Parts: sequence; C-alpha cells; structure tokens
Amino acid sequence: MITTQAEWLHSNTMHCLNHKQGNRNRRKTKIILLIVLFVLATLLAWQRYAEVDTNTAKTEEAAVTELRFIRNHTCTPKGQVGTKTGPGGAEKHHVFFLKVHKAASTTVQNVLLRFSLSRQLKVMLPRSGHILSQRKKHWLARALSLPPNVPAFDILCNHIVFDEEAVRARLYPDSIFIGIVREPVDQFVSAFNYYRNRYGTKYLKKVPDISTYLSNPERWEPRDLEGSYTNNRMSFDFGIDPVRIRNQSYVADYIEYLNKTFHLVLISGRFDESMILMRRYLGWKMKDVLYIKNNAYKNKKSAFTEKQKIAHRRFNMADYALYEHFSNLFDKRVAAEGKEFREEMQVYTSVRNSVEMFCGDNSTGNDYLNVDATLWSEGFYVSKANCILMTMTEESLVNAVRLQLL
Ligand SMILES: *[C@@H]1O[C@H](CO)[C@@H](O)[C@H](O)[C@H]1NC(C)=O
Ligand SMILES: *[C@@H]1O[C@H](CO)[C@@H](O)[C@H](O)[C@H]1NC(C)=O
Ligand SMILES: *[C@@H]1O[C@H](CO)[C@@H](O)[C@H](O)[C@H]1NC(C)=O
Ligand SMILES: *[C@@H]1O[C@H](CO)[C@@H](O)[C@H](O)[C@H]1NC(C)=O
Repeated sequence: MITTQAEWLHSNTMHCLNHKQGNRNRRKTKIILLIVLFVLATLLAWQRYAEVDTNTAKTEEAAVTELRFIRNHTCTPKGQVGTKTGPGGAEKHHVFFLKVHKAASTTVQNVLLRFSLSRQLKVMLPRSGHILSQRKKHWLARALSLPPNVPAFDILCNHIVFDEEAVRARLYPDSIFIGIVREPVDQFVSAFNYYRNRYGTKYLKKVPDISTYLSNPERWEPRDLEGSYTNNRMSFDFGIDPVRIRNQSYVADYIEYLNKTFHLVLISGRFDESMILMRRYLGWKMKDVLYIKNNAYKNKKSAFTEKQKIAHRRFNMADYALYEHFSNLFDKRVAAEGKEFREEMQVYTSVRNSVEMFCGDNSTGNDYLNVDATLWSEGFYVSKANCILMTMTEESLVNAVRLQLL
C-alpha cells in the first residue's frame, strides 16, 4: 500500500512511459506556474465570496500543489490492468457535452472541467459568465475565440441550445458527442421547484402549486417555448424545432437524427453507471470521473395522480419520446459491457463513498486519501484540493478554466 504522496509519485513515475523533454518541461513549467498563479488568484477571490472552511491557507497550498502535481504527471501509466477503454483505446480529449437543464448536467460538467485542468485542455467558453445560450441557437458570437495557434477547442460543456453546425465550427472533427436525459417527471419537478422558488421565473411564480399547474399546463406556459423551463425543455436543449414540437413524426425523425449524432447519452437517474460508461468510452481513469453529490436542491418525490401523469406526458410528448429512446439504448449499452461492469460499479461506488467522507471531514490532518489499485484502476490519491474542485460552483470552476485560455 502506498502511504505518502512521495511514494505515490515514485511508483507512478516508475510506470511512466512518456518522459517529456527538458525544453518542453521548462516551457511547460513556466506555463504551469502562470496557470497556478491565476488559479490561486481565482481561488482567493472565490473564497472571499463563498463560505469555505477555515483552514484556508492550508487548503490553498494544497490546491496549488495538486495542480502542479497533476501537471507534472500526465503521462500514461504502463501495464495497467483491467482498464477497459472505449473504441480506439487511447484517452480521448475531444468532447462535446450537451448541458441539459435540471438533469445532473452540472456534475458532468464539473467532471469535464476538472479533466481539462488536469490535462491542460482548451475549453470553449463564453466571453463572460458561464452560459453560452439558454434560448437561441445563435450563440457562437458569445464564445471566446480560439487562442493563437490553436486549431480547435478540446471541450465544450457550457449551456447551449444544440446546433450541430455551430458546435462543429470550433471543435475537432473527431469530437465525441455526449448528452444526458432525465426521467421527465423528475426533471419537471426539479425544474418547477428550482425556477419557481429559487430563480423566480415570472410565469412559474404565478402558479399557486404544482397540481394546479398540472391540471392545465397550457394555461400557465408562456407562448414562446424558448422562455419556458417546463415545456419539453430537454428536447429544446437538444435543438428540436419548437414550432414542430407537437408533430410526432417530426419528433421521431429528430430523435433518429440525435441517435446518429450523439455517441453516448447518459441517464441522470443512473449516474454512477453513466460515469462508468463515459469513463470506458473516453478511455479515462477512475479518478477522472469521481464526483461529489450536490444535494442542494433535493426534491421530495412527488406522488402524482394518474391523471396528472397523463397530463404531463401529453404536454411533454417530445421529452418522453427522447427519454424513452435513450433510456432503452442505455440499457442495451450497459448489457453489452458484460458482468464486469457491475464489478466496476461496486468498486467505483465504494471509492466515491470514501472520497465523500474524506472531503466532508475537516477535522483530520490527512491531506491525501490513498486509493489502492484495483482491477479497474491504478492506485491514486485524492487531495483536499481535489475536494475543492469537486465542490466548486459552476461559475468559479468556469472562471478557473477560462484562465487556461490566456
Ligand atoms: C467541512 O468544510 C466544508 C466547507 O466549509 C463544510 O461545508 C462542511 O460542512 C465541513 N464539514 C464538517 C464535517 O465540518
Ligand atoms: C513538479 O515539477 C517541478 C519541476 O520538475 C518540481 O520542482 C516540483 O517539485 C514538482 N511538483 C510536484 C508537486 O510534484
Ligand atoms: C409533421 O412532420 C412530418 C415530418 O417532418 C412532415 O412530413 C409533416 O408534414 C408534418 N405534419 C404537419 C401537420 O405539419
Ligand atoms: C441508435 O444508435 C445506436 C448506435 O449508437 C444503434 O445501435 C441503434 O440501432 C440506433 N437506434 C435507432 C432506433 O436508430
């Protein structure tokens, strides 16, 4: 068992294949130092606004060490056992993720942004804020342009309304398209509560309660579907034409198009399975897809009547069709992975639980959690800095990642 960071570093280095050359290292070190400084500045700024633990100095130091450390050791370990990689085998760096509203997509985004930090990838970002578009397909102009001598962005995972042409305009042609969908009733309850009670969306604030809404959704919905978070919102995020959204044969055609365009569509309600499928598909490591649950907006499971369920389904026909299609496909995907998939799930879930405990416990002096090698993963460690990144708000993390474009 590896107990200290130094030992871990030593054993990891022993496995390293790609020793980088001196020159590149020196240039890299400069860039690294710059990025670390910027990230530190961002962390400092962020910590002033957020309520973070009192152990600030120690945590910041750990954050800087962690960022340096991951940049020093991005080589691929040799002789890994059991790390099943997706088609092509190698670790994939070109990813488009469609951030669908109220579908656990911020957690997926956190995973992708952390990956971009550890591999120093270029992420396509809005010029300011963290949203490219919530309403229209024409959002390219809101994005930062490519840095000089960079042919394309590696990752895009901020809110957009899906527009394949715009996505492809600035990403590599071999980008992997990933989406996510959620069971429509759960997605609706989450959206309704969040946009009505927390965000204060006008049309929802007028609704007395959820059953009143469900007895006649049309009465409360804005005429303009773009301004709604409760009218087939998932399909809208996937770029469906709002004018034809009630035409079943158009919806079916559009889902067929999405099925061809997206390589992998995750299911929010099956999040751990989704992370493992994604890990395998992208050839990433277990550490890359760890996450900490965000329980901030936990909803009571609503007990709707049959009548209400029918009303909801009738109004959100496109979202049900979308969810059912990708949910069935997901079942097939998981089944095709074989029984090893379940074994990896167990390991992953138990590692995640340890990480959650480690990150939630500020009392011990342990700065690192060591995770032993398993059939599914090489040994690795999780630092308090990792905890910070895993629990950072979307805004702060986007700001930290933006510094990589400078
Ligand atoms: C640890 O610190 C975090 C961040 O300040 C806080 O949210 C959490 O409640 C703390 N946990 C414990 C067990 O004190
Ligand atoms: C990273 O590499 C630099 C230069 O090789 C070295 O000075 C530094 O100690 C390393 N940091 C960590 C945390 O491994
Ligand atoms: C519905 O969509 C189909 C396929 O796109 C189209 O052929 C048909 O004309 C549409 N029907 C109506 C009533 O608009
Ligand atoms: C959807 O795409 C998958 C491949 O990702 C394919 O196996 C499946 O047959 C497609 N389903 C439909 C209904 O076209």
